[in-house]
Amino acid sequence: MIYIAPSLLAADFGNLNEEIERVRRAGANYLHLDVMDGAFVPNISFGPPVIESIRKKTKLFFDVHLMIKNPQRYIENFVRAGADSITIHVESTSRVADAIQKIKDYDMKCGIALSPATPVSAVLPYLSSVDMVLVMTVEPGFGGQEMIPECIEKVRELKKYINDNGLSVDIEVDGGINAENAPLAISAGANVIVAGSAIFKSKTPSKVIKQIREAEFKMIDYTEA
Ligand code: DX5
Ligand code: ZN
Repeated sequence: MIYIAPSLLAADFGNLNEEIERVRRAGANYLHLDVMDGAFVPNISFGPPVIESIRKKTKLFFDVHLMIKNPQRYIENFVRAGADSITIHVESTSRVADAIQKIKDYDMKCGIALSPATPVSAVLPYLSSVDMVLVMTVEPGFGGQEMIPECIEKVRELKKYINDNGLSVDIEVDGGINAENAPLAISAGANVIVAGSAIFKSKTPSKVIKQIREAEFKMIDYTEA
């Protein structure tokens, strides 16, 4: 099954509840929440108070993507705010295992993210202890960028490792994903698709979500290429 996770970063922040309801009705499975601290990435977005406020209005699964330095300091705040899953960046702390353990101590779903320049080998040691690996397909920090095609190769590598080792780990792709390039990511092995601009900036988000889902049945066979 393909999970669609619209990124709230592309929503109209003046109308958050209506915006969330719009994508929920359009068929979203998750709400992807991009938390940025102006230190790990050169941008600031929102934090626990905003998440806590929208938590009161929707039952959508909150997929929290932490782009913050030393995320282990703030896990409890995001748990209390209402996260369902917390993803940290492998580059954001020297204590990755501690941060993962902290998330799991709260019985939370846990993800590990890697930026475009980070090799797959950096996350392999953690794959047996997480539920999801998030492959950034743009430089983290801003929505509305173009997907970097080279990152899709990392999805393929991860999928192979996960299968070869009998692990059960979701692969999420994040950054510049739209209905046109989603088939590439899905064919490579991604099953959680983040799309910010492509969904929130569309007048017909249900069409975009449907098209992305259909990508599963338009798998590209690389052996023929
Ligand atoms: C980038 C964020 C992404 C981004 C996705 O740092 O992690 O989630 O908001 O937005 P689009 O789909 O517009 O690239
Ligand atoms: Zn994100």
